[in-house]
Amino acid sequence: MGVTIRPAREADAEAIAGVHVETWRYAYAGLLPQEVLDGLSRRRQTRRWRRAIRDPQAELGQVFVAEDGGIAGFGSASREAGEITTLYVRPDAQRRGIGRMLFHHMAEFLEGPVSLWVLDGNPAAGFYERLGGCPGVHATVERWGRELGRTRYCWPAVSVRS
Ligand SMILES: CC(C)(COP(=O)(O)OP(=O)(O)OC[C@H]1O[C@@H](n2cnc3c(N)ncnc32)[C@H](O)[C@@H]1OP(=O)(O)O)[C@@H](O)C(=O)NCCC(=O)NCCS
Repeated sequence: MGVTIRPAREADAEAIAGVHVETWRYAYAGLLPQEVLDGLSRRRQTRRWRRAIRDPQAELGQVFVAEDGGIAGFGSASREAGEITTLYVRPDAQRRGIGRMLFHHMAEFLEGPVSLWVLDGNPAAGFYERLGGCPGVHATVERWGRELGRTRYCWPAVSVRS
Protein backbone atom coordinates (compact mmCIF):
# COMPACT_ATOMS: atom_id res chain seq x y z
CA MET A 1 0.00 0.00 0.00
CA GLY A 2 1.19 3.53 -0.80
CA VAL A 3 2.09 6.00 1.91
CA THR A 4 0.53 9.46 2.12
CA ILE A 5 1.82 12.36 4.20
CA ARG A 6 -0.80 14.83 5.38
CA PRO A 7 -1.45 17.29 8.25
CA ALA A 8 -2.80 15.49 11.31
CA ARG A 9 -6.46 15.80 12.33
CA GLU A 10 -7.77 15.60 15.88
CA ALA A 11 -9.18 12.16 15.10
CA ASP A 12 -5.57 10.92 14.59
CA ALA A 13 -4.50 11.76 18.15
CA GLU A 14 -5.16 8.30 19.57
CA ALA A 15 -3.28 6.49 16.77
CA ILE A 16 -0.38 8.96 17.02
CA ALA A 17 -0.22 8.31 20.77
CA GLY A 18 -0.05 4.55 20.08
CA VAL A 19 2.87 5.00 17.67
CA HIS A 20 4.53 7.43 20.11
CA VAL A 21 4.44 4.99 23.04
CA GLU A 22 5.46 1.96 20.95
CA THR A 23 8.32 3.78 19.23
CA TRP A 24 9.68 5.39 22.41
CA ARG A 25 9.77 2.01 24.18
CA TYR A 26 11.53 0.42 21.22
CA ALA A 27 13.96 3.23 20.36
CA TYR A 28 14.82 4.67 23.75
CA ALA A 29 15.37 1.48 25.79
CA GLY A 30 18.76 2.00 27.45
CA LEU A 31 18.84 5.68 26.47
CA LEU A 32 16.07 7.04 28.72
CA PRO A 33 15.27 5.87 32.27
CA GLN A 34 13.25 2.63 32.09
CA GLU A 35 10.67 4.01 34.55
CA VAL A 36 9.94 6.84 32.11
CA LEU A 37 9.30 4.32 29.32
CA ASP A 38 7.23 2.06 31.59
CA GLY A 39 5.22 5.06 32.76
CA LEU A 40 4.21 6.22 29.26
CA SER A 41 0.46 6.39 28.99
CA ARG A 42 -1.49 6.21 25.74
CA ARG A 43 -4.32 8.14 27.32
CA ARG A 44 -2.07 11.01 28.43
CA GLN A 45 -0.27 11.04 25.09
CA THR A 46 -3.62 11.13 23.27
CA ARG A 47 -4.56 14.27 25.20
CA ARG A 48 -1.13 15.80 24.54
CA TRP A 49 -1.26 15.10 20.81
CA ARG A 50 -4.85 16.33 20.52
CA ARG A 51 -3.76 19.63 22.10
CA ALA A 52 -0.75 19.86 19.75
CA ILE A 53 -2.91 19.18 16.66
CA ARG A 54 -5.42 21.84 17.75
CA ASP A 55 -2.69 24.45 18.27
CA PRO A 56 -0.03 24.49 15.51
CA GLN A 57 1.35 27.76 16.97
CA ALA A 58 2.41 25.95 20.15
CA GLU A 59 5.89 24.56 20.81
CA LEU A 60 5.66 21.37 18.71
CA GLY A 61 4.34 23.22 15.65
CA GLN A 62 2.33 21.59 12.85
CA VAL A 63 1.78 17.84 13.21
CA PHE A 64 1.94 15.55 10.16
CA VAL A 65 1.13 11.87 9.76
CA ALA A 66 2.29 9.18 7.36
CA GLU A 67 -0.67 7.00 6.49
CA ASP A 68 -0.39 3.49 5.08
CA GLY A 69 -3.88 2.32 5.94
CA GLY A 70 -3.12 3.14 9.57
CA ILE A 71 -0.71 5.68 11.04
CA ALA A 72 2.78 4.44 10.14
CA GLY A 73 4.59 7.45 11.54
CA PHE A 74 4.28 11.08 12.46
CA GLY A 75 6.31 14.21 12.93
CA SER A 76 5.97 17.85 13.83
CA ALA A 77 7.69 21.01 12.68
CA SER A 78 7.77 24.54 14.06
CA ARG A 79 8.18 27.37 11.55
CA GLU A 80 8.89 29.77 14.39
CA ALA A 81 11.89 27.71 15.52
CA GLY A 82 12.84 26.42 12.03
CA GLU A 83 12.91 23.06 13.71
CA ILE A 84 11.61 19.54 13.28
CA THR A 85 10.38 18.88 16.80
CA THR A 86 9.46 15.18 16.51
CA LEU A 87 9.83 12.37 13.94
CA TYR A 88 8.79 8.79 14.64
CA VAL A 89 8.10 5.78 12.45
CA ARG A 90 6.37 2.66 13.86
CA PRO A 91 9.03 -0.03 14.42
CA ASP A 92 7.45 -2.49 11.94
CA ALA A 93 7.28 0.26 9.27
CA GLN A 94 10.89 1.46 9.58
CA ARG A 95 13.44 1.22 6.74
CA ARG A 96 10.77 1.61 4.04
CA GLY A 97 11.44 5.25 3.24
CA ILE A 98 8.69 6.68 5.45
CA GLY A 99 11.05 8.64 7.72
CA ARG A 100 12.62 10.26 4.65
CA MET A 101 9.17 11.15 3.23
CA LEU A 102 8.12 12.74 6.53
CA PHE A 103 11.42 14.60 6.81
CA HIS A 104 11.19 16.05 3.28
CA HIS A 105 7.54 17.02 3.74
CA MET A 106 8.34 18.88 6.96
CA ALA A 107 11.46 20.50 5.47
CA GLU A 108 9.28 21.87 2.64
CA PHE A 109 6.76 23.09 5.18
CA LEU A 110 9.54 24.95 7.06
CA GLU A 111 10.58 26.79 3.88
CA GLY A 112 14.10 27.49 5.13
CA PRO A 113 16.99 26.01 7.06
CA VAL A 114 16.10 22.95 9.12
CA SER A 115 17.44 21.85 12.48
CA LEU A 116 16.59 19.23 15.05
CA TRP A 117 18.02 17.68 18.21
CA VAL A 118 19.21 14.07 18.49
CA LEU A 119 19.78 12.38 21.82
CA ASP A 120 23.29 10.99 22.42
CA GLY A 121 23.44 7.31 21.48
CA ASN A 122 20.30 7.45 19.30
CA PRO A 123 20.92 5.46 16.08
CA ALA A 124 18.65 8.00 14.34
CA ALA A 125 21.83 10.12 14.01
CA GLY A 126 22.83 7.75 11.17
CA PHE A 127 19.50 8.42 9.45
CA TYR A 128 19.95 12.20 9.66
CA GLU A 129 23.52 11.97 8.35
CA ARG A 130 22.21 9.85 5.46
CA LEU A 131 19.79 12.71 4.73
CA GLY A 132 22.65 15.21 4.59
CA GLY A 133 22.40 16.68 8.08
CA CYS A 134 25.52 18.08 9.75
CA PRO A 135 26.09 17.60 13.46
CA GLY A 136 26.62 20.94 15.18
CA VAL A 137 26.41 22.14 18.74
CA HIS A 138 26.27 19.62 21.58
CA ALA A 139 24.30 20.52 24.71
CA THR A 140 22.93 18.92 27.82
CA VAL A 141 19.37 19.22 29.08
CA GLU A 142 17.97 18.25 32.45
CA ARG A 143 15.05 15.81 32.04
CA TRP A 144 13.59 13.31 34.47
CA GLY A 145 16.25 14.23 37.02
CA ARG A 146 19.07 13.35 34.61
CA GLU A 147 21.50 15.24 32.43
CA LEU A 148 20.91 14.14 28.85
CA GLY A 149 23.31 15.01 26.05
CA ARG A 150 22.02 15.90 22.62
CA THR A 151 23.39 17.17 19.31
CA ARG A 152 21.80 19.67 16.99
CA TYR A 153 21.72 18.62 13.32
CA CYS A 154 21.35 21.29 10.66
CA TRP A 155 20.50 21.52 6.96
CA PRO A 156 20.81 24.70 4.95
CA ALA A 157 17.56 25.11 2.98
CA VAL A 158 19.27 24.55 -0.38
CA SER A 159 20.52 21.06 0.45
CA VAL A 160 17.30 19.69 1.92
CA ARG A 161 16.32 17.76 -1.20
CA SER A 162 19.80 16.66 -2.27
C1 LIG B 1 14.91 7.49 12.65
C2 LIG B 1 13.65 7.04 11.91
C3 LIG B 1 12.62 8.18 11.90
C4 LIG B 1 14.01 6.68 10.45
O1 LIG B 1 12.83 6.35 9.76
P1 LIG B 1 12.80 5.19 8.64
O2 LIG B 1 11.46 5.24 8.00
O3 LIG B 1 13.22 3.91 9.23
O4 LIG B 1 13.95 5.70 7.64
P2 LIG B 1 13.99 5.54 6.03
O5 LIG B 1 13.55 4.17 5.67
O6 LIG B 1 13.25 6.68 5.41
O7 LIG B 1 15.56 5.69 5.77
C5 LIG B 1 16.15 6.66 4.89
C6 LIG B 1 17.61 6.28 4.72
O8 LIG B 1 18.27 6.35 5.98
C7 LIG B 1 18.84 5.09 6.30
N1 LIG B 1 18.65 4.86 7.73
C8 LIG B 1 17.49 4.69 8.40
N2 LIG B 1 17.73 4.52 9.72
C9 LIG B 1 19.08 4.56 9.86
C10 LIG B 1 19.95 4.42 10.96
N3 LIG B 1 19.46 4.21 12.20
N4 LIG B 1 21.28 4.51 10.75
C11 LIG B 1 21.79 4.75 9.51
N5 LIG B 1 21.00 4.89 8.41
C12 LIG B 1 19.66 4.79 8.59
C13 LIG B 1 18.04 4.08 5.48
O9 LIG B 1 18.78 2.90 5.26
C14 LIG B 1 17.80 4.86 4.22
O10 LIG B 1 18.98 4.85 3.45
P3 LIG B 1 18.99 4.80 1.81
O11 LIG B 1 19.18 6.22 1.43
O12 LIG B 1 20.13 3.95 1.49
O13 LIG B 1 17.66 4.27 1.37
C15 LIG B 1 13.05 5.78 12.56
O14 LIG B 1 14.05 4.77 12.62
C16 LIG B 1 12.52 6.01 13.96
O15 LIG B 1 11.35 6.40 14.13
N6 LIG B 1 13.37 5.73 14.96
C17 LIG B 1 12.96 5.78 16.36
C18 LIG B 1 12.57 7.14 16.84
C19 LIG B 1 13.65 8.19 16.68
O16 LIG B 1 14.76 8.00 17.11
N7 LIG B 1 13.25 9.31 16.05
C20 LIG B 1 14.13 10.43 15.88
C21 LIG B 1 14.13 11.31 17.07
S1 LIG B 1 15.36 12.58 16.89
